[in-house]
Order: sequence, then structure tokens, then C-alpha cells
Amino acid sequence: MAEIAVFASGNGSNFQRLVEALRDTRHSVSSLICDRKDAYVLERARLLGIPSYIVSYEGKSREEAEREIISTLKEYDISLIVLAGFMRLLSPQFVDTYPDRIINIHPSLLPKYPGTKGIEESYYSGDRELGITIHRVDYGLDTGPILFQKSFKRTGGESLKEIEERIHALEHKYYPEVIIELLDSIETENSKNY
Ligand code: GAR
Repeated sequence: MAEIAVFASGNGSNFQRLVEALRDTRHSVSSLICDRKDAYVLERARLLGIPSYIVSYEGKSREEAEREIISTLKEYDISLIVLAGFMRLLSPQFVDTYPDRIINIHPSLLPKYPGTKGIEESYYSGDRELGITIHRVDYGLDTGPILFQKSFKRTGGESLKEIEERIHALEHKYYPEVIIELLDSIETENSKNY
């Protein structure tokens, strides 16, 4: 069995899907880290019974906030940190604390349209092919080795809302699948080293 911590800043639909999908496996979501006290993801965590921790970045340096996160995570045996709409760039020191153990999802076909407006920028680009990316986190903004991409072709007649729904549907289907596969392989690796 392997546990993940999810980091999120907003709505939390991916967080909820991960919690639900992992319930059918040997793995689980142990905790939620959230940087915004008004984020709806906190309500989802409460309803799902997942411990949540608000780590505010206000009035402190990024490194101070991250030290709080690291000390919170020490309470758990985390195999993977999963970013699901966490709208902050992690410092190189933080990334190095969890080598190859931080994963992110982004709502565009990276390296196109990194940042916080991946869906809108994809939509207004006029690109025929849109999609999602799951990748390991390195020091950059939505960079890092790509683990998975899924694309679809649009007709051109869709509204922004329709494209948004299509992208979220892909995220909700494939993020849990990729995470479960990674956790299975981490577990196998750990048992070999035991
Ligand atoms: C998702 O679309 C995710 O890909 C995106 O934030 C959304 C969070 O939705 N992440 C990024 O843009 C990262 N740069 P959710 O809060 O409903 O899971």
C-alpha cells in the first residue's frame, strides 16, 4: 500500500476523483495541502474525510511556507506528491526534497500553454488538437519529463465551456490511472529493496 499527498489551490475536482479512484485500490490519499483558506477543495476534503492542511504563503517567504509543508508531510509516509491545480511554483529545494516524487497535471499539450490559463490559451490558439499532460515536476513552470498525454481533435464549433468540460473529463479519467500505475510500480520497487 502506498499513500499520496495532494496539493491543490481551488475547486478540487481532480482531488475528489483521486480520493474516490484510490478507494478501489490498495493505495490512498492521506492528506490535502492547500494554500488558500477559501478554496472549495477544503470542503471536498471535509466531506470525503481526508485531513487537510492550510499552508498560507501570505506574509512569509516561499521557503518558510514550504518548510511548514515539509514538516506536515513528515507525519505521513508519502510515496508521491500529486499536484492537482496547485497554482504555485515549488522551489528547487522543495523539489529536491522529494526527488522524482512530484507529479503534476496540466490542461494543455505541454510544452504549449504552461501557466494558470492552459485551457483558455489552448482554446483561443485555434489549434485543432487539444489535450492534457501529466508530468514529473522539475524546477520550471509546468515543465519536467512528460509521463502521459492525451489529445482530441475539436471541430471548431465548440464553446469554451464545452472544451473545458472535455479537458476535465480527460483529467478525471487519466490522472487516477497514471497515479495508480506509478504507485503500483513504487510498491513493487520497495518490496524488491526490502
Ligand atoms: C485542472 O484543470 C489542472 O489541470 C489545472 O488546474 C485545474 C484544477 O482543477 N492545473 C494547472 O493549470 C497547473 N498549471 P480542479 O481544482 O477542479 O482539480
